[in-house]
Amino acid sequence: MKYLVTSALPYANGKLHVGHVAGAYLPADIFVRWLRLHQQDVIYICGTDEHGTPISISADKEGVSPAEIVKRYHDSIKGAFDALGIEFDNFSGTAREKHHKLSQQFFSALYGKGHIKPRVTRQFYCEHDRRFLPDRYVEGSCPRCQAPGARGDQCDACGQIYETTTLVNPICKICGNTPIIRETTHWYLQLDDFRQQLTGWIAGKGYWKENVRNFMLNLLEQGLVERPITRDLSWGVPVPLPETEGKVLYVWFDAPIGYISSTVEWAERIGQPERWKDYWLDPETKLVHFIGKDNIIFHALIWPAMLMGQEQGYCLPHDIPANEFMNLEGQKISTSHNWAIWVDEFTERFPAEYLRYYLACNAPERGDSDFSFKDFQQKINGELNNVLGNLANRVFAFAEKNFAGKIEPVALSGQGKEELAEANELYRQMDDGYRDYQVKKNSKLGMDLARLGNRWFDDRKPWARIKTDRAHVQETLYVCATLLRLVSVALYPIIPKSMNRLRAMLGLEAASAWEEPDLGHAYALNETQPLFAKIEDAAVEAELEALRNSSRQGKEEISYEQIKEQVSYDDFARLDLRVATILQAERVPKTDKLLHLKVDIGSEQRELVAGIAEYYQPEEVVGKQVLMLVNLEPRKIRGIESRGMILAVHSEGKLHLVIPQNPCSPGSTAK
Ligand code: MF3
Ligand code: ZN
Repeated sequence: MKYLVTSALPYANGKLHVGHVAGAYLPADIFVRWLRLHQQDVIYICGTDEHGTPISISADKEGVSPAEIVKRYHDSIKGAFDALGIEFDNFSGTAREKHHKLSQQFFSALYGKGHIKPRVTRQFYCEHDRRFLPDRYVEGSCPRCQAPGARGDQCDACGQIYETTTLVNPICKICGNTPIIRETTHWYLQLDDFRQQLTGWIAGKGYWKENVRNFMLNLLEQGLVERPITRDLSWGVPVPLPETEGKVLYVWFDAPIGYISSTVEWAERIGQPERWKDYWLDPETKLVHFIGKDNIIFHALIWPAMLMGQEQGYCLPHDIPANEFMNLEGQKISTSHNWAIWVDEFTERFPAEYLRYYLACNAPERGDSDFSFKDFQQKINGELNNVLGNLANRVFAFAEKNFAGKIEPVALSGQGKEELAEANELYRQMDDGYRDYQVKKNSKLGMDLARLGNRWFDDRKPWARIKTDRAHVQETLYVCATLLRLVSVALYPIIPKSMNRLRAMLGLEAASAWEEPDLGHAYALNETQPLFAKIEDAAVEAELEALRNSSRQGKEEISYEQIKEQVSYDDFARLDLRVATILQAERVPKTDKLLHLKVDIGSEQRELVAGIAEYYQPEEVVGKQVLMLVNLEPRKIRGIESRGMILAVHSEGKLHLVIPQNPCSPGSTAK
């Protein structure tokens, strides 16, 4: 059997955090290691996803080229994977030329067969920033489920994707203004062309995780709408058609092609340039995509359709184990608020394998999970140290003191056989667990295996028997050493370095096979040492403190004004606040701050002067509705009689007009 395992290509726009690792990388690395123990033909492919608007925006913000941002984060992410022992056969990047070429070929093949069609479309355009707003730069309420905070192309609450212009109450994320809609041409992938093929394909995927399968069945039932696969941007893969200056392929069109281009790169690197075909062009290849749940639609629907539309006969995904999300101390991980644990920093303070173990224990397989430092400490101290480390220590110490570190095979008693039978059963269950990507269950079973050893050691009381019955003690140690050997294989996919250290201390070669439970091994102990060390309370406190402090740094320091003296309701009722529609606006000559406005307050039209010109262009405010104090004493400002005041809020260095949530009749009163 041939396996091609991939993990979602991380965006080269930020560092790697534990949430990424728990969802798409560690489970894949574990699966690959397990396959290798079974001598399976497998390659593990990844790279960075180097296109998309967030990268261009970061570059603009820093005043550097997108390529510079990409290089920085590609190296940082690769370093973090290395530190964690996540071992890819190839780690590429989608800004590379090979990838651009292949992506253009994909587009052209689909286009040639009529699966891609141009449309003149309407797109959000921010007049303030003078640019088209790509999906991620518009936010509003989800047109499907109404949840607020929905992104331009996808809602986090319901996972649905939709046409950006259908967003409810859109806001430009760069400047906070309401964007307008303008025409532009884009190219659309005709997903419905593939509906039958997709439906037939999905029918054979009864073994998929429920979250992924149901998502797909749902989509197919709802009907497949055409999807725009180009964008108005300069950073990305140029659209391979004439007169498409300034247009690139949508990042989600080219990114999955990165799985192939990275495999091609691998084949060239190992000096067998055709080797990639053995995987990609063999329909029997088991292509397994490890992803987070927000990527399901792209991997289960759009990507397979893209593959179906090519001539070469690419293999299709065999399985798509999608994981849920990991939270941090009960809150959603947020890179913008710096509420995250960065892998590079963490692995400088704790052994990387502690993180692997903890993330495996806490894998977000069936639902979201939580990273908590106290729990991390508990798992490392209470399990790795007190269970597994303890078993190894006591067996090593006893064997060294009494048998010069030699543990020989013995004929097993009934008890010994029972003990090993129980162990073999756990060992077998773990084998099945890895097949089903059950990382969480397996970290628990691995510990149960070690617990079995501790219980046996306690029951057999070798310290009391050693004077009178050496054979009894020999059996005790032999069974324990066998258990340790089983653990060293069974937990190898999760904590490979520690398990190879354990094996070295047992006098065994590094793990290379899912060994037979009992082979009558002899063990010659070698430079034994404690396998793990405990995490002190102080270290945990320091982490929590640092997390809280750094997350605070991300936020703005706000100095609050003192709350004013109390007023009665009658005092408040004397203020006549009404909705006003701005009809006209122009700058007050020779001022920077003032706009001369004409507004409709229902019963009449008024003129007033507003100090908003530093934040709003005159043409941007025309048509907006605002809240206005209409019974303020008139005042002459720069020769204009100003009759009223519109309300606005200063926040984060900007001014925000107070705008009713929905259109209102002018003159409606606020209470
Ligand atoms: N960069 C995307 C993300 O982090 C994942 C891309 S997966 C690929 O959500 F298939 F497109 F490569
Ligand atoms: Zn804007």
